[in-house]
Amino acid sequence: MNAPQTHPSMPLARRLALVKPSATLAVTAATAMLRQQGKDVVDFGTGEPDFDTPEHIKAAAVAAMAAGQTKYTPVGGTAALKQAIVTKLARDNQLTYGSDEVIASCGGKHSLATAFLALFQEGDEVIVPAPFWVSYADMLVLAGAKPIIVPTDERGGFRLTPAALEAAIGPRVRAVILNSPSNPVGAAYDADELGALSDVIAHRGLLVISDDVYERLTYGGFVQRHILALRPELRPQALVVSSLSKSYAMTGWRLGYTAGPKHVIAAMATLQGQQTSNPCSITQAAAVAALTGPQECIGQMLAEFARRRVYVLERLAALPEVTCVPPRGAFYVFPNLRAYLGRTVGGYELRSASDLAAYLIAEYNLAVVAGEDFGAPTHIRISYATSMGELEKGMDRLARALRTIAS
Ligand SMILES: Cc1ncc(COP(=O)(O)O)c(C=O)c1O
Repeated sequence: MNAPQTHPSMPLARRLALVKPSATLAVTAATAMLRQQGKDVVDFGTGEPDFDTPEHIKAAAVAAMAAGQTKYTPVGGTAALKQAIVTKLARDNQLTYGSDEVIASCGGKHSLATAFLALFQEGDEVIVPAPFWVSYADMLVLAGAKPIIVPTDERGGFRLTPAALEAAIGPRVRAVILNSPSNPVGAAYDADELGALSDVIAHRGLLVISDDVYERLTYGGFVQRHILALRPELRPQALVVSSLSKSYAMTGWRLGYTAGPKHVIAAMATLQGQQTSNPCSITQAAAVAALTGPQECIGQMLAEFARRRVYVLERLAALPEVTCVPPRGAFYVFPNLRAYLGRTVGGYELRSASDLAAYLIAEYNLAVVAGEDFGAPTHIRISYATSMGELEKGMDRLARALRTIAS
């Protein structure tokens, strides 16, 4: 609670003591600052595709502006966008929802934050399998809920097992968050695994929040099935959250959406109506083009990500004592650098992944995200959403750094 004390003339609300700045956004900001100072930083930190938004999506935004679609829209999105979301869920996920069962928000992060505010309150507990996306815990705490972090292990591909889920369910647990493929590991559940988790979810009456933002980005023939398509009976206790950020290279446009029971969607619209109102009207028009237009752009980006994934995994495999679960999806690898911790090099004490990340950026101009904030203190996250040239340069730097640490 030091924020209120440090600004006596304008103290901050107590809730600020509950949250910390996003670790991933902090790395992005640090990289930008060093680059401004003229440093040649390789950025493995950023969690966004390096591709530009496809042309037909941008053209739809330009057309919307020209047509004067620059006014408020209904809070949860235009009728056209809601229909596009409904169409997408049926086409890609085999999920049937009506227009009154979906809501568009200002990015997947906003969708999740609004959903948490609509569903949870003081005393509620929510299971979050670790390693987890940095924002879940903070967003839950802001909603008054307590995240129950359930570790998963490397041998099991960092996937939550039904036994671990069952064991974590105490009397106050109301929900579980499933993120498949996941950030930061790229862990993804196959149909059998989803089925087994569904048995526990159904039996224990949990809510399930399925964060599907990386659903279209999978590798090696892995196809992400949807838990609700496999087990439609869970629908009354489930929310589907997704975003256009990752699949369509639209991180800056800010468009996410949620599908779920009508009363929850209406509650989210009430909250949103008092906070942000509608997502940007021009973004909404672009989103309609993204969701209903040609989908080849995703395959093209995916092919490039797949090539980079193979390259990074090969380079990691060549590093002594580094282990890494091959990701089934997303665009991250999450190597375990435990063997390099607990050492001192050039005045740097490497006690944890964040010490290592600080060393890499200071001495090698290499930006990675430390695992601590993902719930994995011996790992670092490398995003391969960057060019092959940068990947080569960055992996060379990592290899050199680890050689120095080991020597
Ligand atoms: C797992 C996960 N969920 C949700 C989001 C939110 O994405 P956005 O707010 O850009 O739609 C992210 C972004 O990094 C993510 O990694």
